[in-house]
Amino acid sequence: MIPLIDLGAQQARIRDKIDAGISRVLDHGMYIMGPEITAIETRLAAAADSRHCISCASGTDALMLALLAKGLKPGEGVIVPSFTFAASAEVMPALGAMPVFAEVDATSFNLDPAGLPAALSAARAAGITVVGIIGVGLFGQPADYESINSFAAAEGLWVIDDAAQSFGASWQGNKVGTLASITCTSFFPAKPLGCYGDGGAVFTNDDTEADIMRSCRIHGMGKTRYEYERIGMTARLDAMQAVILDAKLDIFDEELVMRQQVADRYAARLADSVGVPVLADGATSSWAQYTIKLRPGTDREMVMETLREHGVPSAVYYPIPMHRQPPYSRYPVSDDGLQVTAALCEQVLSLPMHPYLDAATQDQIAVALAASLEKATAG
Ligand SMILES: Cc1ncc(COP(=O)(O)O)c(C=O)c1O
Repeated sequence: MIPLIDLGAQQARIRDKIDAGISRVLDHGMYIMGPEITAIETRLAAAADSRHCISCASGTDALMLALLAKGLKPGEGVIVPSFTFAASAEVMPALGAMPVFAEVDATSFNLDPAGLPAALSAARAAGITVVGIIGVGLFGQPADYESINSFAAAEGLWVIDDAAQSFGASWQGNKVGTLASITCTSFFPAKPLGCYGDGGAVFTNDDTEADIMRSCRIHGMGKTRYEYERIGMTARLDAMQAVILDAKLDIFDEELVMRQQVADRYAARLADSVGVPVLADGATSSWAQYTIKLRPGTDREMVMETLREHGVPSAVYYPIPMHRQPPYSRYPVSDDGLQVTAALCEQVLSLPMHPYLDAATQDQIAVALAASLEKATAG
């Protein structure tokens, strides 16, 4: 079976540095908030063109820290796409607040700026005060934050970029990390920049928000250890994961180029038979996933089954929109009905994607997909 994501080839390149880094941590014994954390935060901030990087324990914690910095209050609403991973919406209810589900664009899979007024009016009709927007850079391409930010500014809302999948990408030459007032990312192993466990980070240029997030990731700590300024959480990145990230960051830019080459090869081989991902003018993607759209009426289960028989794994991100998930069914949904979201949930299919996917393997995947599509559309 071809792997969906192959972390082995990458590890072979950086294993020596990882081994040396882990030995160093074992020798000095500062497992929590040691020198590796300061060093990786400095490197990550530079990589994202941001004044502050606050590392943390996961992408979900990064979102939670961002909402704490924004002072989200119980009962308030935050607009978020319904076509996303649960974490983008999960953090609002955790603070007693509410996600307000909005429509995505059929081409980019990201929050559709044109759908924001409908989401806002649905929330207002339900008596909910909307205070912010969380956009998501789904599958690696950033959302159109130029348009999202200008809508938000006109309505007095803040904007957070959930860049769990899009760290490393850019929009009109501006890096992810600078596109919204706070950017959150995940270092889950399968992410474009992943560690070997859970990890995440938050980026901002705002000194006050950075201070709040640094405090909140250590229980709301004040200037000294057992003095608390606010209610926080335990959300630190550990030194071992910082070592992994440090090694991976050395080759990250090169891997982004390799991911783009893989995406280009897929597009050349598949564009005639399925909808291939399209980048907006001036956008780059970190290609966390390579997600195709099957033509309406294609039996996706049969495509997946036939691909599997040919040794090709595939995955559906995501089969059910967030607003149709039972725990989220009581939250407001945009007036426009989220038809694009519903259609995408039925059509999308993600293929193997990682920087080390070679042309011959992609040929094999293309042949398997052609055979699968033939079978799935025959009847
Ligand atoms: C869009 C999105 N947001 C947030 C997260 C949460 O990240 P983590 O798993 O590190 O908590 C993920 C992770 O899969 C994600 O894909």
